[in-house]
Amino acid sequence: MNKKFLATMLLAFAVITGVAPYAMAASPQAMNAPAAAASLYTRLGGYDALVAVTKDFIGRLATDPQLAKFFTGLNDTSKARVEAHVIDFLCVATGGPCIYTGQDMKTAHTGLHITDADWNTSAAHLTETLNKFKVPQKEQSEVMAAISGLKGDIVGR
Ligand code: HEM
Repeated sequence: MNKKFLATMLLAFAVITGVAPYAMAASPQAMNAPAAAASLYTRLGGYDALVAVTKDFIGRLATDPQLAKFFTGLNDTSKARVEAHVIDFLCVATGGPCIYTGQDMKTAHTGLHITDADWNTSAAHLTETLNKFKVPQKEQSEVMAAISGLKGDIVGR
């Protein structure tokens, strides 16, 4: 079968059945469908960026004189577990392809007695981290909006 004949047959197949053979399948853009908006996770730079941001953020919390007390009781294994869980949690929360296997936010923070003031200091650290990594204002606002929805599960428990 020569190439021209094969191409003609494929075209005829597509026209008659309305089904584009795999190799001919048009992308959504080509079909004038609006492209799906990139997730916050993707716009933040994906997994490696999230790891870098989370490590910086947790590092700031754990060394802040007001907040260090929350982390002093954790051994290195526990710290590594919390860090990995926060990464996965934020990955899922921003629309990334991760699976979070840690505790829910209420359970994870109950008994810590995190106050409003602690929360505000943490939020300021998060802003500093996002600035350090030059996250654009739009994405910063989306991160803060996602985080602020968790406050009731984290503060005063
Ligand atoms: C920004 C919002 C926050 C998020 C998304 C978050 C997320 C998490 C996650 C995913 C874990 C791990 C749960 C597990 O391992 O099963 C965790 C644990 C923990 N969080 Fe948060 N957290 C937030 C805010 C805070 C704040 C403001 C503090 C205190 C200043 C804090 C202190 C802790 C501590 C000490 C643990 C370890 C608890 C333990 O396993 O003993 N978190 N958090």
